[in-house]
Amino acid sequence: MPIPLPSQFLKRMQKILGEEFKGFLDALNESPRTAIRPHPIKWSWTQRSLEEHFSVEGRVPWFPDAVVLKEKPEFWRDPLFFGGAYYVQEPSGLIVSHVFKRFGKPDGLVADVCGAPGGKSIQLLSLLNDTGFLVSAEPVPARYPALEENIIRWGKVNQALMRADSRAFATLPNQFDFVLSDVPCSGEGMFRKEPKSVRFWKPNTGKKLQAIQRQIITNALISTKVGGYFLYTTCTFNPEENELNAQWVIDTFGSAVRSIPLPELTQWNIVEGLDEWDGIKISAHTYRFYPHRVKGEGFFLALFQKTDVINPEKQVNAYRGFDFKPLDCQMPYQLPFEHRVIESQNKQFIVPEWFDKIEAMVRKLPIKYIGQEVACETNKPAHATALLTNPPLTERIPLSYDDAMKYLKGNVPREISDKYALVEYLGVPLGWLYKSGTPPRTKNPIPQTFRLKRSLPL
Ligand SMILES: C[S@@+](CC[C@H](N)C(=O)[O-])C[C@H]1O[C@@H](n2cnc3c(N)ncnc32)[C@H](O)[C@@H]1O
Repeated sequence: MPIPLPSQFLKRMQKILGEEFKGFLDALNESPRTAIRPHPIKWSWTQRSLEEHFSVEGRVPWFPDAVVLKEKPEFWRDPLFFGGAYYVQEPSGLIVSHVFKRFGKPDGLVADVCGAPGGKSIQLLSLLNDTGFLVSAEPVPARYPALEENIIRWGKVNQALMRADSRAFATLPNQFDFVLSDVPCSGEGMFRKEPKSVRFWKPNTGKKLQAIQRQIITNALISTKVGGYFLYTTCTFNPEENELNAQWVIDTFGSAVRSIPLPELTQWNIVEGLDEWDGIKISAHTYRFYPHRVKGEGFFLALFQKTDVINPEKQVNAYRGFDFKPLDCQMPYQLPFEHRVIESQNKQFIVPEWFDKIEAMVRKLPIKYIGQEVACETNKPAHATALLTNPPLTERIPLSYDDAMKYLKGNVPREISDKYALVEYLGVPLGWLYKSGTPPRTKNPIPQTFRLKRSLPL
């Protein structure tokens, strides 16, 4: 059934699109597109092609490592999802990978200011070397857990998460080589993916969001290094949140920013943004994704290079920094890579062995989760260590599909001989089994949040 769309929205889109309006409306009544971004390390363990595992329509033109699916499967039935072998993404948003590949530094410091549920953080993390570091944040308490869960599944130790808004980044002026702000927006580009969002749309939603979007942009730009890049994205068609914000960046920060053209995008049917709206001339280079032109949802982007220091207005530091101490952790299993362990608020984390290089920076941020969690003071292993891209050296137990599903429900599909074992499905670890008690019994320590569930954090 066609989605009933607000008349003011339709009127605006007709004005923007002219002759293309009918094609746009038809596309809104088609099914939304789904893409799979394979984990660069974990997917290779399956020794399968994406085409063998999914019903693939084709590659994502702007990021050919990922595929567009013919139809959306029930991902909760796939143990590989729970092992972090891939992430499910909307294809247009994968343009972040293209932009980062062109302008990002794989060994640099990267910020994702509006993180949850984590699709773009995962893209950035996948393109970083082990010597790069990502800081990702999400302020909304109900949305933060999805970010943490997805990052744990991705299994990398070179990142930190904050439950904080963009002000946390402004405390670190000129630090990050690449900053992404995929801002909260009116979500018009997601109407066919999330038809419920139409109900929350009002004619003034975009205008209302503009102020918070500009605050986020300012904080993001403050934290960007001189010479570094700032990528602004939305999933709306509303010029007030798109082109007018991009132009505002140029008008407000003047010679401290440079708008970067991305002419290659047009080869994929992504179009240049509007050159005028509401009597305001737009000189910023901006790009729009329309569902009748690309196999993806509505999306918008503008890329800037910071060319000079931006002086922040005096800000009250809204958050407390990260307090931690180094720890000599006695793990009952061996990790096959150099690392350090730190402790903060009774939680222990594995961090990269070069951590001292970023220690001062990290101390200033309200970090909630860093590296990956490890258990040092109990024999119950931490789930996050089972999902590492360099898994612990222990016994490995391959499971059938049915046993993998049993395991993910919290059951014990097998007895183990040693004290610890990793269970895997198609070569991808899903979690631990361990022995405890007298007499020792095999137990499944998988936390409730990581068990099989139908509503996935996507
Ligand atoms: C479009 S979503 C981000 C999606 C995410 N980048 C991804 O790819 O999975 C925008 C996010 O910004 C968060 N947000 C809201 N206000 C914010 C603020 N002041 N600073 C930073 N993020 C904010 C929202 O809660 C929401 O989760």
